[in-house]
Amino acid sequence: MNETTLNAFLSECRARIEKTLERLLPAADAPPPRLHQAMRYAVLGGGKRVRPTLAYAAARAVGMQPEKVDTAAAALEMIHVYSLIHDDLPAMDDDDLRRGRPSCHRAFDEATAILAGDALQTHAFQVLATDPKFPGDAAMRTAMIGNLARAAGSVGMAGGQALDLESEGKELDLVMLENIHIHKTGALIRSAINLGALTCPGLAAERTEALDHYAKCIGLAFQIQDDLLDVEGNTAVIGKHSGADAKHHKATYPSLMGIGPAHEAAADLVEDALKSLESFSDDANPLRWIARYIISRDR
Ligand code: IPE
Ligand code: IPE
Ligand code: MG
Ligand code: MG
Ligand code: MG
Repeated sequence: MNETTLNAFLSECRARIEKTLERLLPAADAPPPRLHQAMRYAVLGGGKRVRPTLAYAAARAVGMQPEKVDTAAAALEMIHVYSLIHDDLPAMDDDDLRRGRPSCHRAFDEATAILAGDALQTHAFQVLATDPKFPGDAAMRTAMIGNLARAAGSVGMAGGQALDLESEGKELDLVMLENIHIHKTGALIRSAINLGALTCPGLAAERTEALDHYAKCIGLAFQIQDDLLDVEGNTAVIGKHSGADAKHHKATYPSLMGIGPAHEAAADLVEDALKSLESFSDDANPLRWIARYIISRDR
């Protein structure tokens, strides 16, 4: 796969996810309009779409077409956006900037933002269960719903968020911090890869496991880079206020190990992720590219 094919693949992913989200979200004027407007504001207002792209890239790595993963990629992005809306609330990180615009509770109000997050979460599962364009059978739907639910819940993202908040102002060691990161951020990234792999019924267990290992490595690397961008990034570029972690006395990779070693830790994880793709063909090149992008990104 050369650079032109890769770029074409990335722009196709972008176009597909925007179109699918637009198709699956409730219309802005459907009652209750204010809630639906808040959901659309948060979901359609930019974002890198890393998780959907990973789901498309994983499907490609196992030889499946992008249309097989549209519904799941959109459902996953809805869960991710719900997590961002709630993450920014005053009771959590109290951030008023997200994706370069006022965060949902600033653009609307707190109650609407809470409900928009709630409704996006249930809507994600509704579309996985009922989207008439879903290209798989009932067993595939159930497997995807189960995977995403676990990744989002108390043993996944929500559990990681709980640990993150409980730990503010406390001294953590690296093992404790890694545990927070693999849950609050790693779980949904892992689910993106799992959902892509689930489009291929009967996929060999070694393939599923290799992809899962890749996912675990890049999920942690993604949050290390997020921590680094909070220190080294520029608010205008990252689209959220830098310095937010120090303000909330959050333990982060750079605060615990220093900036240089944090970069190295993320790079080592990406090397490990790439190793687990060694037996894959060029069809896994988008996954290889995304792994490198995750630690080189500036936003
Ligand atoms: C931000 O995720 C929250 C984390 C889990 C680190 P992204 O960096 O993927 O945010 P968007 O979707 O591009 O806005
Ligand atoms: C985000 O961690 C985790 C989730 C949203 C689940 P952060 O709190 O570091 O994310 P940002 O930096 O606000 O995007
Ligand atoms: Mg947070
Ligand atoms: Mg935050
Ligand atoms: Mg952060």
